[in-house]
Formats: sequence, structure tokens, C-alpha cells
Amino acid sequence: MSEPVIFERSQPGRRGVALPPLDVPEAPPLPAEFRRDDLPLPEVSELDVVRHYVRLSQLNFAIDSVFYPLGSCTMKYNPKVHEDAARLRGFQQIHPLQPAETVQGALELMFRLQEALGEISGLPAVSLQPAAGAQGELTGILMIRALHRDRGETGRRVVLVPESAHGTNPATAAMAGFTVKPVRADRAGNVDLDHLRSLLGPDVAAMMLTQPSTLGLFDPNIEEIAAQVHASGALLYGDGANLNAILGKVKPGESGFDVIHINLHKTFTTPHGGGGPGAGPVCASPALAPYLPDPVVGERDGQYVYLHPPKSIGKVRAFHGHFGMFVRAYTYIRSLGADGLREVSEHAVLNANYVRSRLQDLYELPYDRICMHEVVFSGSRQKQQHGIRTLDIAKRLIDYGYHPPTIYFPLVVDEALMIEPTETESKETLDGFIEAMRAIAAEAATDPELLKAAPTTTPVGRLDEAQAARRPDLRWQP
Ligand SMILES: Cc1ncc(COP(=O)(O)O)c(C=O)c1O
Repeated sequence: MSEPVIFERSQPGRRGVALPPLDVPEAPPLPAEFRRDDLPLPEVSELDVVRHYVRLSQLNFAIDSVFYPLGSCTMKYNPKVHEDAARLRGFQQIHPLQPAETVQGALELMFRLQEALGEISGLPAVSLQPAAGAQGELTGILMIRALHRDRGETGRRVVLVPESAHGTNPATAAMAGFTVKPVRADRAGNVDLDHLRSLLGPDVAAMMLTQPSTLGLFDPNIEEIAAQVHASGALLYGDGANLNAILGKVKPGESGFDVIHINLHKTFTTPHGGGGPGAGPVCASPALAPYLPDPVVGERDGQYVYLHPPKSIGKVRAFHGHFGMFVRAYTYIRSLGADGLREVSEHAVLNANYVRSRLQDLYELPYDRICMHEVVFSGSRQKQQHGIRTLDIAKRLIDYGYHPPTIYFPLVVDEALMIEPTETESKETLDGFIEAMRAIAAEAATDPELLKAAPTTTPVGRLDEAQAARRPDLRWQP
């Protein structure tokens, strides 16, 4: 790093704090055997400390600082009014073990959020408990398993998952004890109906489907798919990670889905990243309501009460889930209203199609049709013509000041580059990003080594990402 870190700023005798005068009896010093001389703490001023941490924070990419088109993650702006709501004393200083009559406001908020998500999804039986999309998937699939068991249909051991699905879908099905069978896509990127038909049978418990798909495409055959799945006695699970594209336009329940999860940290813009808590509520049809996690919030005689679904699959999370996220998501829904939510999807789709139309002359577009809220390109042209990989393009974008899009997902697209601009970005921001992508395409032809060396503006270049995640080296050494 070019800038000195906090230890290198140390100067003997420099102080950043002034301790108040001692107002308790002085204690004897720590015994010598507990003292360490090999612990050279930095001696720095308050300003040194402030600059050190502010600079570190600026090395990070965040939605509050840069355009963050990470496909499938829906990195939209988190309005700050949500934080005000979450910090209200009445929400912040309560405990989940308090009697229901002392936390009526919190229960009312959960009840209203359940109602709103039920309305938006068209699936009225809602649990807010799951802590993330992936956990919502597991919850929904366990509910489906429980329903089949109750019906005596224990031979249903297979879950169908399209090839383009997010990895959590097959992982969920496998964790719930099912055998996963992939469903092919047709040439347009939709579910291959003939292949689906050939797979459906008395051994299939469910199909998991993302709509719009992870290719950013709305499958127009959804009702036909649902009809086929149901005719075989299976249920249709919806991965609602891409709900941002269809708010107020399509209700998954009306398309034939039996249960979906919603990622509050995507569509309903609760913060994600930094390991913070997420939320993956599950919305189900009345037939699945008895199996919801325990408890849900209900209303009885003007009081908000805990209800215990009679055949519940049990708890999937301590207490009610991540309550602070419910406050933020509810604030979002109420501040936009039904019309505002519909506009969210309209603008998200418009922005993605703007990016698509302005880059498709330079980057390969494997599915050349109107996309939804995200567009999936392929870096295959740059690979064939100049030996440049999608990874190089993504790394070069960092030099231009952008967080890279998702790459190498979905797996069915060679050299995939998945861009999700979201509705909160202005045309000027999108134009800046498009210019950067166009400049990189030109560099791939004229100066490919530049791309292979990227990023050049960061303290460290390319990391061994597996090692960095599994064995992070967080200790500064002189
Ligand atoms: C399509 C899709 N499904 C499921 C998930 C899993 O959601 P979560 O990260 O909230 O567990 C994601 C996450 O990116 C996703 O994009």
C-alpha cells in the first residue's frame, strides 16, 4: 500500500485520547507475568486514526459510493429513511421474549408486512422467519416434502431444477434429501417443455423455477409449465430472487407457483453485503399454510397474536427472524405504495434493456431478446478474438471505478457477464458504465495485456480468491 497503515504512522509519545482524571481508587498494576512487551500498540493522534479508517472504508466498493451492477444480487440504493425507522426506540429496545401484549406495534408491523408480501406474491400464507433466500428455499422445500408425506406420497424423491438455476436451488433440494434432476433450456432460453414432460412422473415432488430466470428472461410458458407440473402431482417452487422485475406486474401465485421465497435484501432493499443479516420470507398457497414455520403473526379481536401452524415444519430461525429488516422492508413498501413498486420494476427493466441495446454490438448476447431486470452477455467474442477472458473485463472495470458485474454465472452461458443495473441508477450513471464497457472492448483489441494486468488501481491485484476466502490473512506484519 502506498499510504502508511496505522502502525507505520506511530510516533513515540503521540496520543489520540485524553483520559479523564481518575475518580476511583488507583488499582495495583497488572502483575508482570500478565504483561507483554512484544505488543507495540501504535501511538497515534485521533486524526491519524480517523484517516486510517476512512481510507480503509474507501478502498471498499459499496452501493453508497459506486455503481454496483452485480447481477442476480439486486444491489439497489438503500434509502436512509429505512434506517430512521429501524432505529425508532419502540422497535429497537424490545425483546422477542416479551409478552405479545407489550409489543403490539412490532407484531402489527410483522402482520402488515406478511399481508403486503402475500398481496404482492399472490400467495397469502407468509412466514417472515427465514434469514436469507437460500434458507427460504429450504423452508419452502421442507413444506412441500411435509405436504407430500401427509398425502402418503413418499415416493416423490425427485426435484427438477433448470440448468440455469442459482446453485442454492439444487443445494436446497439435495439438503432436503431429494435427488436433483436438471431441466434443459430451449434455444430461446425458456424451459424446454418437451424435456420437462419427459422428466415429470410419480417420483417428482417439485420443480424449482426462477421467474424471470437467471438469464434475465421471462418464461412466457409459465402457465403451461405450472399446469404440467401440477398434472403430475408435483408442486411448483418459485425462486423469487428476481421479483424486482415483476412487482405489481405479475403475481407468482397467479402464474401457478405454490410457494416462493422473497429476498428482502434484494427486492425490498434492506442492506446486504458485509455479512449483515438478510431475510428470505416465504409466501405459500393456502394448501401449504399449515406447514409454515412456527409462529406466524395473526390478528384476533384487534390484537396481534402468535399463531402456531398446526403441521408446522418447526422453527427455521430463532424467534421471528431478522426483525430490523422487516422494519426497513415495510418502510420501503409503504413509502412507495403500489404504484411506486410497479414503477420500480418498469425502471429496472428499462435500465437493463438500455444497457443491453447499447452494448450488444460489442459483446455477444446469447439470448437476443428483450430482457427483464438484468442482461446476460458473454465475453466469448473477446476470448476468441483477443484471448481475453470475462475475468479480465471484470477486473478492468475496477480500474474504471465500477464494481464488476457477476461473472461466470449462469453456468449455461460461456464466459457469462451478468449486468443488473437496478432502477435506482440514472441515465448518466448508465452512460458512464456503458462508455467504460465500450472502452474496455476497444482495449481488448489494442492492448490486451492491460486487461490481463488489471486491476492496476487497487492496493493488491488479483488474489487467489479461494484462499482469500478460506484462509484470510488479516494481520498486518511490519
Ligand atoms: C437466483 C437466486 N436464487 C437464490 C439466491 C440465494 O439468496 P440468498 O443469497 O439471499 O441466500 C440468490 C442469491 O444471489 C439468487 O440470485
